[in-house]
Amino acid sequence: MSWPEIPPHLDAQPEGLEGWPADAVVAWAIAAFGSHLALASSFGAEDMVLIDLAAPHRPRPNLFYLDTGLLFPETYDLIRQVERHYQWPATRVAPELTLVDQARNFGPSLWERDPDTCCRLRKVEPLQRHLRGKAAWMTGIRRAQTPARRKARVLEWDSRFGLWKVNPLVDWSWEAVLAYLQQHAVPHNPLHHSGYPSIGCLPCTTAVATGEDPRAGRWRGQVKTECGLHQ
Ligand code: ADX
Ligand code: SF4
Repeated sequence: MSWPEIPPHLDAQPEGLEGWPADAVVAWAIAAFGSHLALASSFGAEDMVLIDLAAPHRPRPNLFYLDTGLLFPETYDLIRQVERHYQWPATRVAPELTLVDQARNFGPSLWERDPDTCCRLRKVEPLQRHLRGKAAWMTGIRRAQTPARRKARVLEWDSRFGLWKVNPLVDWSWEAVLAYLQQHAVPHNPLHHSGYPSIGCLPCTTAVATGEDPRAGRWRGQVKTECGLHQ
C-alpha cells in the first residue's frame, strides 16, 4: 500500500484503522508517509513505546524533541542513551530565544508568571517551524490524559499545524504503557520510579503522590493542563 508523498494529500485511510493495535498503526504510518513523518518525543514513557515500535522500520521517521533548555538532567541523559541504544539520532529543536534572551525580553522565570507565553516561545512556535513541509507527525497522547485529549483519534487532520497527526496510543492506559516498557526492556526515564509519571520541564513538573492523577504534577496549582502542542 502506498500513499502520495506530498502533504496534505492522503487518498484513503485503511478500514478500521481506529481499532488497530499500536504496532500496526506505527507500521502503516511509516509506510504511508515515509520520510515525511516526524515522531515527536519528550522521551516520556509513551514516547519510549513509540520509539521502540518504530525503530525496526525503514525509513525511520524523523525523531525530534523540543529542547526548551529546561528539561530534567535525567531526560537529557535518556536522550543520549536512546540514541546509542537504537542507533537513532534525535533532532534537537530549539526555541529562537535562549533562556538569557527570554529573561532579557520577558523578565526572569517567565514560566512562573506567564506559562502560556513561555510554552508558546519554547515549545509551540519551534514545533510549528519544525513541522513545516512535513506530511504527518506522530505523538504519544492518550485519551485518558487530559479533557482536551478525550476526543483524540488514531489519525486526525491537525488544522493548527496543517498536517496529519497519528496517535497510535490513544486508547492505551498508563498501566499498559508501563507493562510494555517492562516486557520489552525499553530504556526509560528513571524519574518514573520516583513519583514522576508525566515529565515536562523541570520548573513546571513535580512528583505526584500515590493515588493522585498522573498529570497532577504538571503545572501544579495552576489551571493549565496543556502546553499548547495538542489543542
Ligand atoms: S504536554 O503538552 O503536556 O507537554 P505531554 O508531556 O503529555 O504533552 O506529551 C504528549 C506528547 O506530546 C508526547 O507523547 C510527544 O509526542 C509530544 N511532546 C511533548 N513534549 C514534547 C517535547 N518536548 N518534544 C517533542 N514532543 C513532545
Ligand atoms: Fe516554560 Fe514550563 Fe512551558 Fe517548559 S512547561 S516551556 S518551562 S512554561
